[in-house]
Amino acid sequence: MGKVRAILGSARSSLINPIWESIWRENFYTCPCDLVTIHLNADINIQPLKGGNDFMGKIAEDRAVDLIQHLNVSLQDRKDKYKNSPLNEIKGIFISEEKEGNKFLVRSLDGPIATFSLQELPGCCGFIVSYWSEVAPYFRKKGIGAELLQIRMMAARALKYGAMLATVDKQNLDEVSLLNNAHWSKVNEFRNPRTGNIIETYIVNL
Ligand SMILES: CC(C)(COP(=O)(O)OP(=O)(O)OC[C@H]1O[C@@H](n2cnc3c(N)ncnc32)[C@H](O)[C@@H]1OP(=O)(O)O)[C@@H](O)C(=O)NCCC(=O)NCCS
Repeated sequence: MGKVRAILGSARSSLINPIWESIWRENFYTCPCDLVTIHLNADINIQPLKGGNDFMGKIAEDRAVDLIQHLNVSLQDRKDKYKNSPLNEIKGIFISEEKEGNKFLVRSLDGPIATFSLQELPGCCGFIVSYWSEVAPYFRKKGIGAELLQIRMMAARALKYGAMLATVDKQNLDEVSLLNNAHWSKVNEFRNPRTGNIIETYIVNL
């Protein structure tokens, strides 16, 4: 807080001429983000949003850290439960997180197998979005896409998400059948004005 005040103080003395300063003295300015109210000649007052914005931020942060762990636990659980899964034939399989975050890589010691992304829906901590799922061409049509979908759902359930959302190009029949086979519900379809593609929206309760 002191540091912010010092920076503001020095910026004010060098940048604001005396006429403006006299006008500013009689007014205060509210930042559009609602979090910071600036009053010249007064302290900077940082007000958390009602409802505990910090608390919500903490939940999201903890969940992001736990997600990679839950994904790997689900991967192992799934292997134990379904001995015939093709995932069992791949030695040393594990899931890692790419540096940018939200993007996960399924790989073995021999190389990549699949990628997918998961992200909490902004504004609702009970909803998680699944996107950019892809199985490497060599591993397709072996049931791995279906297994990984179950693994994502198990991990999200463990993290107390209540529902998962995905959008899919109507022409992507493999992905559409993957979602239908996992009992997702198609809730809507629309024409994406940016691409002209017909996009289907799917949701599943976890
Ligand atoms: C969509 C995608 C992820 C599916 O992955 P996948 O690993 O091939 O999926 P699966 O093997 O579980 O299922 C695909 C089909 O193979 C069939 N299959 C499963 N195991 C099989 C086996 N052992 N032998 C033959 N077929 C099999 C499934 O029944 C399914 O058939 P269906 O479509 O008639 O129901 C993959 O095709 C892909 O990466 N596509 C490109 C990226 C993309 O479009 N991503 C989705 C949008 S984000």
